[in-house]
Amino acid sequence: MSEIQDSGDKIEILIRARYPLIYVVSFEEGRVGKRLESIAEERKKQLFNWTITNGLELPDGSWITELKDPIKVLEYILQSDTNALFVLHDYHHYLNDPVVVRKQRDLAHALKITRKNIIFLSPVLKVPTELEKEIAVIDYRLPGKEELTEIIKRITQSLDDAGKLEVLKSAEKLEKIAEAALGLTAEEAENVFAKSLVEKGQFDITIVLSEKEQIIRKSGVLEYYHANEKMQEVGGLEELKNWLVKRGKAFTPKAREFGLPEPRGILLLGIPGCGKSLTAKAIAGMWQLPLLKLDVGKVFSSYVGSSEENVRRAIQTAESIAPCILWLDEMEKGFSGLGSSGMTDGGTTARVFGTFLTWLQEKKSAVFVVATSNNVSQLPPELLRKGRFDEIFYVDLPTKEERKEILKIHLEKRKRGQEGFDIEKIGRETHGFSGSEIEEVIVSGLYDAFNRDEELKQEHLEQVIKTMIPLSQTMEEQIRGIRDWAKLRARRASNVHWEEEGGAIRQLEM
Ligand SMILES: Nc1ncnc2c1ncn2[C@@H]1O[C@H](COP(=O)(O)OP(=O)(O)OP(=O)(O)O)[C@@H](O)[C@H]1O
Ligand SMILES: [Mg+2]
Repeated sequence: MSEIQDSGDKIEILIRARYPLIYVVSFEEGRVGKRLESIAEERKKQLFNWTITNGLELPDGSWITELKDPIKVLEYILQSDTNALFVLHDYHHYLNDPVVVRKQRDLAHALKITRKNIIFLSPVLKVPTELEKEIAVIDYRLPGKEELTEIIKRITQSLDDAGKLEVLKSAEKLEKIAEAALGLTAEEAENVFAKSLVEKGQFDITIVLSEKEQIIRKSGVLEYYHANEKMQEVGGLEELKNWLVKRGKAFTPKAREFGLPEPRGILLLGIPGCGKSLTAKAIAGMWQLPLLKLDVGKVFSSYVGSSEENVRRAIQTAESIAPCILWLDEMEKGFSGLGSSGMTDGGTTARVFGTFLTWLQEKKSAVFVVATSNNVSQLPPELLRKGRFDEIFYVDLPTKEERKEILKIHLEKRKRGQEGFDIEKIGRETHGFSGSEIEEVIVSGLYDAFNRDEELKQEHLEQVIKTMIPLSQTMEEQIRGIRDWAKLRARRASNVHWEEEGGAIRQLEM
């Protein structure tokens, strides 16, 4: 996205502003290294690289192996009087050492008046509290469309029979392939392209996409979700649907020019089985955007120290695939440990949550967040504050009209028309049923009919309805709790207003 500044430019600005300690988070040593080289050249700085295995590499390519020691290298930097960038690779392992921390603080002060900068380059972000104020952190962005296009061109140049490649015949094809690889590192993209060339002799979108899915899944917390659901499959929830139609238009460049901000996201709260997850999937279909599902339980409640990296990487991947939808299903599941985070996991859950909240609030990328939850009491209040989401929608039990609609949708899904069914009557009798329970009525009815060797009829459905006890009866208290909460804080997803509609609200009492 154009609003997001190129990470290399950001580093350059920090260098010019004489930030002494810069922490660049990236898996891509090669790609970032190249950029640092060109920055150094442009700013007429010498470039030094340090690794624990080889020591310090001087600008002329020779190595000082005696400087493998992580503290000695800092001393060298301190006394060096060159105008230089010192790139320390994977230095995060040593940043927790008390002597290193002290040395870094000394350096931070000393370097401010010199023309030296230290750049920590590492895939993992680990900054001790003492250094938080001294170090500027940059998440190096994954390659964008232009850069991926360059990679494709470079690969094709090395081929003898490049003339046969479809991708070179139209700019549109080239762009489509580059787009398909968004979300990958440069090296991953190169491998994926190479695989496609070997298998198909072409740059094949399907191969690129399916490889990308696997790579994203391997990272652990994100899943590339294939949503086949359409908005027409969601019964009721008219307010929500209208809102989505309006906001969908806000993704266009025309909307940007008009001065509209990128849509941020929505939170869907409500009763279990009433279509929250279904709607999340249908939004992807409606807006024709890729859907990334974030495993909230894994990210937020993981006691593994890497959960911070996980959330940063997930955000980074989503931003590079943007425009896309980031789906956080059953969000409350991630927050069970939040309240006690300080005591139980050294504050990891709280910190990871903080990272996510800040991103949600400040993001400028076209990543639309759809979060769903059926338990408001487990959600941290900070999440519900204004400015986090564009809107919080409350999804209630369906009204009679909505139940009829849901019924028709699910009959149709099972290749049954409405003929022979008294939809109005079933709508009435399924009072208090959720969408998924209405679906269940049809499925059970089909089983009964099939067992009796009959075609599905009204009686089968009515029989099931009589024997089924909907969740709303057993969960009456909880449901009333969610409603009372939502009444003051959320917008109704159905086009029924709280006041006018005795129906859904009083449904339970009736
Ligand atoms: N409004 C609806 N229209 C059509 N089908 C529905 C509707 N609500 C629920 N269903 C059916 O029930 C299934 C389960 O619904 P869904 O998973 O969306 O519920 P949910 O609100 O996410 O519940 P939970 O809070 O338990 O996650 C859907 O896949 C769909 O088949
Ligand atoms: Mg759900």
